[in-house]
Amino acid sequence: MIVLGIESSCDETAAAVVEDGHRILSSVVASQTAIHSPYGGVVPELASRQHVKVIVPVVSEALQRAGLDLSAVDAIAVTQGPGLVGSLLVGIGVAKGLAYASGKPLVAVNHLEGHILAAFLEESPPSFPVIALVVSGGHTNLYAVNNYSNVTLVGRTRDDAAGEAFDKVAKFLDLGYPGGVVIDELARSGNPSAISFPRAYLEKDSLDFSFSGIKTAVVNFVRKYVDSNKGGSIGISENNGDLAKQLPVQLADIAASFQEAVVDVLVAKTCSAAQRFDARQVVVAGGVAANSRLRERLREEMARLGLPLMLPRAELCTDNAAMVAAAGFHQLEKTGGSWDFDFDAISRWPDKTAGS
Ligand code: KG4
Ligand code: ZN
Repeated sequence: MIVLGIESSCDETAAAVVEDGHRILSSVVASQTAIHSPYGGVVPELASRQHVKVIVPVVSEALQRAGLDLSAVDAIAVTQGPGLVGSLLVGIGVAKGLAYASGKPLVAVNHLEGHILAAFLEESPPSFPVIALVVSGGHTNLYAVNNYSNVTLVGRTRDDAAGEAFDKVAKFLDLGYPGGVVIDELARSGNPSAISFPRAYLEKDSLDFSFSGIKTAVVNFVRKYVDSNKGGSIGISENNGDLAKQLPVQLADIAASFQEAVVDVLVAKTCSAAQRFDARQVVVAGGVAANSRLRERLREEMARLGLPLMLPRAELCTDNAAMVAAAGFHQLEKTGGSWDFDFDAISRWPDKTAGS
């Protein structure tokens, strides 16, 4: 079965053609990073406008690269949520239009379920039961996955997502955008033990996360030393490093210590979940899964526990439409039918399971 996937939940416009939920025939991603970069975060209105501009060419290119036209596609899958409503509606509108015009089945999928299923697009897919950590700019969730249609949310962030903490700390320090990428890079030359930032493990046995405290701890640490009247951002780089000289440590040390604290908690909770649910495989996805220190630490810890770890390649970790096509394929296998055309975008998906 050949599925055309369409994704527009945040700041990437993507389309992909996937065969049988596994073989990627094409995958096109148009990133909006340059558009949002001056603002240090995604501006929803700009995101929707850009989706409108590029979505038709992106879908055409995906079909063209796969060497197919719409008549060769068996179904169309589109991200229904969670995400920015204005952005989601662009993908949904195009998917409905294509499905209506071509008479193909249309299936609406959960973006987070897509992130989990991205791992199954790799050459050797994971074996169930799986523990999946989905860690991105909007989410930090742990799922117990028993099979394609049995996905249970077992842990989630109670405040900021891990990627959001990276982005906010980078914005505060004026390091650049996207924050996670810059901090990852800067942290390479820093000392991860320079500052002991707090790790929020929450109640004993909890698989939930909390990252707002560590972000505040970074802000408080810097404000203790740096004399700046600026509100949201401390403006270190704008001042050519003059403000940075007031710090007792290098900026790289702050980046490395912050990153280490976030990674410590992500790794500890993922290992606990894997042990508690007797996982045969641990899967990590979402933009933060590209973090070099997280990848290194997960590899070490999983090897120590004797658990196979699946870190999908970077382009499958970040937002893409191949994962949407894969999720659509499995949903069609399960339900067999087409969705009604009157479904709407869902900005916040109910928490119980990824797919419910
Ligand atoms: O999954 P994604 O592309 O988009 C969604 O949020 O859905 O994730 C983007 C997030 C951003 O917060 C970005 O700062 C973070 O992933 N990120 C990273 C790295 N690369 C991207 N965080 C830490 N280290 C990285 N190397
Ligand atoms: Zn995502």
